[in-house]
Amino acid sequence: MGLTFEQAHAEVAKRLSAEGLGHSERVAATAGRVAALYGVDVEQARLAGVLHDWHRETPAEELVARARRLGLDVTDVDEAVPYLLHGPVAEADLEIQFSGLSDAVLTAVGAHTYGMPEMPELAMVLYIADVIEPARHQDGVDMLRSSVGVRPLEDLFGEAYAASLHHLIDRRRRVHPQTVATWNAIVSGSSR
Ligand SMILES: [Fe+2]
Ligand SMILES: [Fe+2]
Repeated sequence: MGLTFEQAHAEVAKRLSAEGLGHSERVAATAGRVAALYGVDVEQARLAGVLHDWHRETPAEELVARARRLGLDVTDVDEAVPYLLHGPVAEADLEIQFSGLSDAVLTAVGAHTYGMPEMPELAMVLYIADVIEPARHQDGVDMLRSSVGVRPLEDLFGEAYAASLHHLIDRRRRVHPQTVATWNAIVSGSSR
């Protein structure tokens, strides 16, 4: 039994603040548009978009506790920056809660915080949509927006990921081991 966009939206609306819901709606719409331009499944992209921040507002201690209970890998970076776990914990919890979600949607949700070395297309679409949704105003975002549908999906993802990594380094934040693995895959041309 599949989960429709409307059902997913109703569930997200019960959990997130108005701000979080608005962001999720914009990411869903953006992911749908990006997916259509690259021949990726639009409905799956919209579903991943609306669900991706399922645990975005879950308190830090609870995220770490849930991750441990679920048997996920909790590195020292996750302990220092538990926010990063909101992707993988959402992947695991959504799989338990909704039997009808595809692996592609779950993987995309799980990979949206620190990526993964073999990024599937739907995961790249979600990652890009999260970075360029209309309310984002960070440096370079307009360049990314104007490249959608013009540059190959992998290039666009590589640019979006590089911008996130720059941001981490500029702010002297820790870099998760999975981020290092993802970046190394991107620059060695094997991100997918
Ligand atoms: Fe997120
Ligand atoms: Fe997000």
